[in-house]
Amino acid sequence: MTAALGAATVLALALLCLTVVPSHAALQVGFYRGKCNGTDVEATIKSIVAARFGRDRSIVPALLRLQFHDCFVRGCDASILLDGSGTEKTARPNLSVRGYDLIDQAKAALESKCPGVVSCADIIVVATRDAVVLGGGTQYTYAVQTGRRDGNISVASDATRNLPGDSFSAPQAIAAFRAKGLSASDMVLLLGGHTVGLTHCSFILNRLYNYNGSGKPDPAMDPAFVAMLKSRCPQTSTVDNTVLLDHGTPTTVDNSYYKQLLARRGVLKVDQNIASDSATNATVRALAGGSSSFPALFGGAMVRMGGIQVLTGTQGQIRKSCRVVKK
Ligand code: HEM
Repeated sequence: MTAALGAATVLALALLCLTVVPSHAALQVGFYRGKCNGTDVEATIKSIVAARFGRDRSIVPALLRLQFHDCFVRGCDASILLDGSGTEKTARPNLSVRGYDLIDQAKAALESKCPGVVSCADIIVVATRDAVVLGGGTQYTYAVQTGRRDGNISVASDATRNLPGDSFSAPQAIAAFRAKGLSASDMVLLLGGHTVGLTHCSFILNRLYNYNGSGKPDPAMDPAFVAMLKSRCPQTSTVDNTVLLDHGTPTTVDNSYYKQLLARRGVLKVDQNIASDSATNATVRALAGGSSSFPALFGGAMVRMGGIQVLTGTQGQIRKSCRVVKK
């Protein structure tokens, strides 16, 4: 693809994203302004995320995944945060979700300033935005909408049913995102969240050693990459090691993930699938060549994901502890 064509594709993608899927009308930017006894709610969350990032950069992938897994199950209502047997966080795809303690910390700080005002659902979305900016730089700043309320229901089977599988084909993944009101381009943009963080070897052993029962690696993967991942994930290992999702720039939020996909270095099957499928390949290529447009496009998609099935107004509640429904 020529540079000019690449730029045109990115522009077309940007327009598509802006026009097709509106963000949620009942939410607003700056909902908490003037509502917390003189405390700046977003600044409070930001300082907590920044302090954690200073000690542990992996808070960026932790929060990105937390927001995705919250929003895809009963909407962005903090249902993933509820403790108890059989709640969402006990579902298999959520067992490695992290970041709950940071949300607790932000909630406690805000409850001490203005009890019963700031929802856990909004804390997730604001904290994730702050983490993305820390991980990627100020060009990743996006205005988050707030005004969400917290849900009262959390059921493990909802998580299993709604979260896409790691080996989904591109059409299956598109369908899962469409079911949440997100477009195919949003899906490709949001999978860009795999620009940071880790996966466990158990998710890719089949790709490395016995793809579709062939006894061989997945032919869609660069053989040198297979060899490198095999050394990290021995077939007979009793320990479930971790591997980076973006082997280009593993801890920076950027468009390197898409470049890796084009080099056949996608780690999860779903990642590689979006590079090869005709419905998503052009978007992957445009984003791989669009390091300057990716930040705003990614932010836009995050805002739209943050609008999935939100509770607003008098729906739901504002929890006191993010882990417990208020009686
Ligand atoms: C088709 C959609 C998706 C699938 C199938 C998928 C699947 C997965 C899987 C299997 C893992 C590894 C989990 C583990 O080893 O414990 C993972 C990690 C991750 N996912 Fe996704 N994901 C998808 C979309 C997203 C989206 C939309 C985001 C955020 C915008 C996201 C952000 C992350 C991050 C940051 C990690 C690393 C977490 C960490 O290091 O703790 N994913 N994903």
